[in-house]
Amino acid sequence: MRISVIGCGHVGLVVAACLAKLENKVTVVDVDEEKVKWVNTKASPICEPGLKEILSQVNIEATSDYWQIKDSEIIFICVPTPSKEDGSISLEHIIIATEQIASILKEKKGYCVIVVKSTVVPGTAEEVVVPILESSGGEVGHDFGVCMTPEFLREGKGMYDFMNPARIIIGEYDKRSGDVLSSLYRSFNAPILRVNLKTAEMIKYASNAFLTTKVSFINEIGNICKQLGIDTYEVAKGMGLDERIGNRFLNAGIGFAGPCLPKDLKALIARARQIGYEPRILAEVLNLNDRQALKLIDLLKKHISVKGKSIGVLGLSFKPQADDVKDSMAITVIDTLLKEGALVKAYDPQAMPNFGKLFPQIEYVTSEEVLKCDAVLILTEWEDFELLDYKGKIVVDGRKISKAKEARIYEGICW
Ligand code: UGA
Repeated sequence: MRISVIGCGHVGLVVAACLAKLENKVTVVDVDEEKVKWVNTKASPICEPGLKEILSQVNIEATSDYWQIKDSEIIFICVPTPSKEDGSISLEHIIIATEQIASILKEKKGYCVIVVKSTVVPGTAEEVVVPILESSGGEVGHDFGVCMTPEFLREGKGMYDFMNPARIIIGEYDKRSGDVLSSLYRSFNAPILRVNLKTAEMIKYASNAFLTTKVSFINEIGNICKQLGIDTYEVAKGMGLDERIGNRFLNAGIGFAGPCLPKDLKALIARARQIGYEPRILAEVLNLNDRQALKLIDLLKKHISVKGKSIGVLGLSFKPQADDVKDSMAITVIDTLLKEGALVKAYDPQAMPNFGKLFPQIEYVTSEEVLKCDAVLILTEWEDFELLDYKGKIVVDGRKISKAKEARIYEGICW
């Protein structure tokens, strides 16, 4: 099929590369000329395992000119929906992209389906996207179709997740729109659930909210376990043997971070409040998460006063195998350490360049140098950290690195 993808971010590029690999003719559109250049030279502007290899095998055309996509049968909108101050999402990029699509719809011959893949709060496709598209003079359901299909791609595993989905959710304006989009997924071995547009939008938020609830839940159990001298990981293992509970996403630690989970949880809370409902569980999931990383510093202070001391930090990315530091727990922890007068030395296998843009004032060193500090905090579970020699050190661990238990003084956050 002839597919276009608007937005060359993480989601857009993974979707484009995978659909091209499945022998569709794919064009990507981005306002950022740099990204367009990267894709046209078959390089990847983002760090995602496997993406570069696929980009080098397939033919994707990148452009910043919307007219190039006028022959598309399906247009995916994959632009960002960043958080505003109050946690609600900004639809600025969605609106701009949709207006551009509307302008080509005016001239376009033949039916096509516009698919919202960006994470948007329930009601957005129907109340924002459809009216803008109809401003072209065309009529939804007649001249063009609209779908919303949420993405469930983990950063660092995006290519695998796209090709091996647990489920495909198709939110459809009408049957015709949904039929076109479903035909794109016919080779996938996954259940397809067809629902209306706002249900699809909600499935995305509810899924991420549930994942964050699991993490805050196990962190809460972990905080209790810590005081009772119980290892939360053994508790989670025991709980997880019940199939109704499952053992995934029950790793206690310093909390959930990254570009998606915190943002989506805040957006759902904000949307609920907008309609006059106070989401008590969700609000507490967020509160607990905001406090969790600071527990690490409380534990550190049991052993050492921070002021004037060198504190080493292992791990800056929001999770291993990523260079992304968006909403990373390292931000809260390092910010607090600096305010309390510590000298911070940090190491991360991939995220030091990105973190350096946020915190140019700290020292970026090797892992060996970090271990020479007065005390060490572990914030990300990189595999490499299992190979370090922690003997003789003070270590406070936020991510359960087994080898760190060899330290002279070892504290786990929830164990
Ligand atoms: C998350 C979801 O897992 C994806 O399904 C979803 O598609 C994506 O957000 C999105 O909305 O785009 P991602 O942000 O890549 O994916 O990261 P995760 O691997 O889910 O981890 C998120 C955070 O939770 C990390 O900081 C991680 O350390 C933390 N976490 C995860 C825990 O603290 N404990 C766990 O048991 C699992």
